[in-house]
Parts: sequence; C-alpha cells; structure tokens
Amino acid sequence: MSDRTGVGIVGAGAISAQYLRTLTRAPDLDVRFVADLDTERARARAAEFDVPGSGTLDALLADDAVRIVVNLTVPRAHVDVALTALAAGRHVWNEKPLALDRAGGRAVLDAARSAGLRVATAPDTVLGPGFQRALRLVRSGAIGTPLSALAQVQNPGPERWHPDPAFLYGAGAGPLLDLGPYYLTALVHLFGPVTRVQAVAARSREERVIGSGPKAGERFPVTVATQVSALYAFAGGESAQALFSFDSPLRRQRLEVTGTDASVVVGDPNMFDPVPEVHHADGSVLRTAPIRTRIGRGVGVVELARAIRAGEPERASGELAYHVLDVMLATLETATSGKVIDIHSTCERPALFPSTIREGEVD
Ligand SMILES: NC(=O)c1ccc[n+]([C@@H]2O[C@H](COP(=O)([O-])OP(=O)(O)OC[C@H]3O[C@@H](n4cnc5c(N)ncnc54)[C@H](O)[C@@H]3O)[C@@H](O)[C@H]2O)c1
Repeated sequence: MSDRTGVGIVGAGAISAQYLRTLTRAPDLDVRFVADLDTERARARAAEFDVPGSGTLDALLADDAVRIVVNLTVPRAHVDVALTALAAGRHVWNEKPLALDRAGGRAVLDAARSAGLRVATAPDTVLGPGFQRALRLVRSGAIGTPLSALAQVQNPGPERWHPDPAFLYGAGAGPLLDLGPYYLTALVHLFGPVTRVQAVAARSREERVIGSGPKAGERFPVTVATQVSALYAFAGGESAQALFSFDSPLRRQRLEVTGTDASVVVGDPNMFDPVPEVHHADGSVLRTAPIRTRIGRGVGVVELARAIRAGEPERASGELAYHVLDVMLATLETATSGKVIDIHSTCERPALFPSTIREGEVD
C-alpha cells in the first residue's frame, strides 16, 4: 500500500485548477479522483492534471485509498458533501465558508468528532510565507503590544471575471462570507477569538450582469449585502475596523496592524506572498525581503495530511472555521438589528507555520 495520502477532489470549477497544481506536486499526496455533478467537467479537469479517476462523488467514495475529500463545491453544497464524505469515513478539507448557517457548521464538526475524523477549512493563505512573516513580526514584539487592525477589501464585484458568479451573490457568499474568511481568519491568528461585533450593511443593486465567459450578459439576482462595515473586539482587548464591499469601483485589499511601537502593513491576506512592512512613528520603514514562493491554494490540505499522520492538530481547524462563520453571521445579524452582539464561540490560536513544510517543497 502507498505511504502517500490518497486525496479526492469534489468540485471541478474555477478554483480546482489552483488546488490541483499544488496537490499534484506534493510528494506525500496521491491525487486519485476528481468528482463533479458535471462529470464531463470532472473528466476534463482530471485529464489536465493526469489524475487517474473522475466521475461522481459516489464513485470517488468507492475508492478506498482516498482518505481526504477536498470539497471545492459551491457554498450551498458544502455541508451535504462534507457530511457524505464523513459518513463514508473520510477526512474533509472544505472550501470556505464552512456552512451557510451555524446548524450546518455544527453538524459537520459533530459528525467528524463522533467518527474520529478531521474537518479542516480554507483559507490556507494564512499559512503562506507572507502572512506568516507578518505574524512572526507581531508575535516577536516588532510592533510592541498589538492594539488594533484595519481590514479593507473592496472591488466592483466578481461578476467581471468569474464565468458563473451567481453563487457569489447568494447565501454563503457576498463580500462578507466570500472574502471575510481571509481577513477574519488572519485577525484570529493575530489576536485570538472575537468577542463582540457591531456592523452596518447595504445592498446596492437587486441584480447584476455576468461579465465574462459563455453566460456573459445574463442577469442574476443579488440576495445578500454587498457592502458591510464592521467593528470587532477581541478577547485580548484588541479591536479591528473592517470593510467588505463588492460595490466599489476602487479596488483595495489591505490588512494593517497597529501596536504601541509600530504598525505592520500585512498586505492582502487572500494571497500567499504579500511582503510585510513595519512603519515606525519617526517615519522609518522596515521593508522585508521579497517573497518568491510557489506555495498556493491546497497547502492546507498538505498540512492536514501531515497533521493526521503525525497525530497533531491541524492549523486550519474546523473549530476556527466555525468561529469565523459565527462571527460573520453575527456581523449580518447586528447590521439588521442595530444591536451589538456578543460572540460565544471560540477557538485556539493556531501555532506558527511552517514547521515542517518549507517554501518550494511542493514545487
Ligand atoms: N473562484 C475562486 O477564485 C475561489 C477562490 C477561493 C475560494 N473559492 C471557493 O471555492 C468554492 C468553489 O468556487 P468556484 O469558483 O470553483 O465555483 P465554480 O462554480 O466554478 O465550481 C463549483 C463546482 O462545484 C460543482 N458542484 C456543485 N455542487 C456539487 C455537488 N453537490 N457535488 C459535486 N459537485 C458539485 C459544480 O458543478 C461546479 O463545477 C467556493 O466555496 C468558493 O468560495 C473560489
């Protein structure tokens, strides 16, 4: 039997190519199958990356050598696919968000716990060398005592480039649930769990128009807030101010952390290679070295496989993802009610990374 960990992908859409590029290069993974409701799409994606099997999720689960199911379906399918994989005795890597609601998220974590299996969840950009460098700077005292953060992600919306973007304006998405996981997961790595949130939100249009691909020109409904402004308080007393918007002609993605001695400009937590800078009150700036990495989406699956083998906790844990989901849902609830919401879920702050995966190792 192979000593590599067998992996099967479910969902052969836009993001699957980035995952397959990473996973098929990882020396200790064996990518065996690509599944999709659209089996022709699965076949084509499998062929592109020399993956031997393709077809339905049932056919994937019939392959006993698949130990981790990588769930890259659209958000509304995340829970069903994850529960099906767990019921078949497989560990799960889930794209974000973990679920559409708290009940779905809890059901996935409970099913994993009772079966002795793992659930880990995107984003894994927080495991990339750029964010990890910023995290090391903060944890080593380079900015003094951390006080606050500014998180901003604003753009005109993904219908300009995504060929099938309707799901990005429905339950489980919008700028908060689609892009919020990158920023909120990074903030939890930096500060620990969120304890309180207050927000306002708005939807600028009832419909949007697909801007590229075979469906270009088609209209689709918008059912979620497309601009969300939020304030977060953290367990250690830190705070963050955040903007998540698909209503902005101006594109900006930034995460900055301010401490008593300096501020660190982290860069875009949706990327693996932002180069952090440390800004001091006297105007001096510590610019850190350029980052050259081919680590990409899927590195969290590599880390999960190694954590399972080592009997150690994985960093992109389901508990962290559940906490981030709870915080995002509370953000939308406070925007509706106008009342500050206390957050009762919590999670461990993940350990620094990499200890075992080095840049270039999955090249
Ligand atoms: N596109 C991106 O740049 C990007 C980036 C990061 C994360 N993500 C996340 O990845 C996930 C997928 O996004 P995408 O852009 O690849 O979507 P997509 O619409 O391009 O692809 C999704 C695929 O999942 C398949 N699918 C849906 N339900 C299924 C089911 N029940 N069983 C099997 N297959 C099913 C669809 O047929 C489709 O091929 C989402 O959660 C998204 O938030 C996307």
